[in-house]
Amino acid sequence: MEEARKFEEARLAGEAALAMAEKEKAKCKAAIEAAEAAKRLAEMEAHRRRQAELKAKKEADEKNRALDALAHNDVRYRKYTIEEIEEATENFEAHNKIGEGGYGPVYKGKLDHTPVAIKVLRPDAAQGKKQFQQEVEVLSCMRHPNMVLLLGACPEYGCLVYEYMFNGSLEDRLFRRGNTPPLSWRRRFTIAAEIATALLFLHQAKPEPLVHRDLKPANILLDRNYVSKISDVGLARLVPPSVADSVTQYHMTSAAGTFCYIDPEYQQTGMLTTKSDIYSLGIMLLQIITAKPPMGIAHHVGRAIEKGTFADMLDPAVPNWPVEEALSFAQLALKCVELRKRDRPDLGTVIVPELNRLRDLGSSSDSHGHGCQGNSGGYSSDGNTGANGRSSRSLLSADSQV
Ligand SMILES: Nc1ncnc2c1ncn2[C@@H]1O[C@H](COP(=O)(O)OP(=O)(O)OP(=O)(O)O)[C@@H](O)[C@H]1O
Ligand SMILES: [Mg+2]
Repeated sequence: MEEARKFEEARLAGEAALAMAEKEKAKCKAAIEAAEAAKRLAEMEAHRRRQAELKAKKEADEKNRALDALAHNDVRYRKYTIEEIEEATENFEAHNKIGEGGYGPVYKGKLDHTPVAIKVLRPDAAQGKKQFQQEVEVLSCMRHPNMVLLLGACPEYGCLVYEYMFNGSLEDRLFRRGNTPPLSWRRRFTIAAEIATALLFLHQAKPEPLVHRDLKPANILLDRNYVSKISDVGLARLVPPSVADSVTQYHMTSAAGTFCYIDPEYQQTGMLTTKSDIYSLGIMLLQIITAKPPMGIAHHVGRAIEKGTFADMLDPAVPNWPVEEALSFAQLALKCVELRKRDRPDLGTVIVPELNRLRDLGSSSDSHGHGCQGNSGGYSSDGNTGANGRSSRSLLSADSQV
């Protein structure tokens, strides 16, 4: 009996132990399952995070690419299609052609309801497309109030689109083609100062100076207020060097006189520096006061000064030359055309200040251009007229002059 009871107890204890073990086992299983679920959750979370990171990285890359494209893309200038150019020029209609230079014809046209001048580079002059785009990019970043604005280009066809300059070239106005009114001496002094200032800007370009290479009155254009601007800046850089030289050759043979602007030291040595532009500037300054062709002009003016007949050299279309100031102007110009580069004056420290002084005399003097000692501030000796005292009265003092 006792034995049976003991046996029963042992059996019950065994069962209890088994039940406990079962319970423990279930607990353990639940714990494992919970751990597995947590692991899966963590994995999902990690996956989500990785996806989010990838997405953020992709977005950042895209943004960087867009910013990069803005900074370095090849659309920093306005690109025109050939269809737009054709429409603007009425298919290069002959009556829209306003001139032709060494690089090709120039057409007048309208783009975006704005008058423009379109220069079509001769096919042999057009540089490779990439090179052309690079150069146009550089040029469209260079801005100065006395530089003709490059509005855009059609790189596929080598077309350059410029702002339209209403009063044509300085050459045409000096020689009064189309019987236009003569430019007053004040306007001429102002134009000289404007050109020198813009040239200084080009020569100070970074990372390297920009040499114009083709300064001459045909490349100075006048807007509707007769403000002057240098045109064809960088054109020589747009074409391969061999073509640039052949264009110069072309000018030498076809346009008699253009070679007169070329620095003799450059011609001899082939070394092109900013001082070569100073030579061309000097010839142009002499033309501005004499309205004579460039051939032999330095010699003629120099001789006239020696003989005391300088006043006879001045453009007779202007009745009221301030002869003394014009003489200072001519003497500066003659220094610019010294045969040796090193004898030519410095643009920034000598030429620009002197031309500004003469311009300010013009804006502060009375209508005869005498009786004042303008200084750099532009005040007359009686201190009445300021630098901006260039009134319409004084500008239009002589009959029908501009
Ligand atoms: N932006 C412009 N606005 C108005 N007329 C222009 C413009 N650009 C050029 N022209 C006209 O077209 C003419 C020819 O210009 P182009 O530059 O082709 O020849 P160039 O100046 O005589 O010689 P180069 O080829 O050495 O520049 C100019 O003299 C001027 O009358
Ligand atoms: Mg030109």
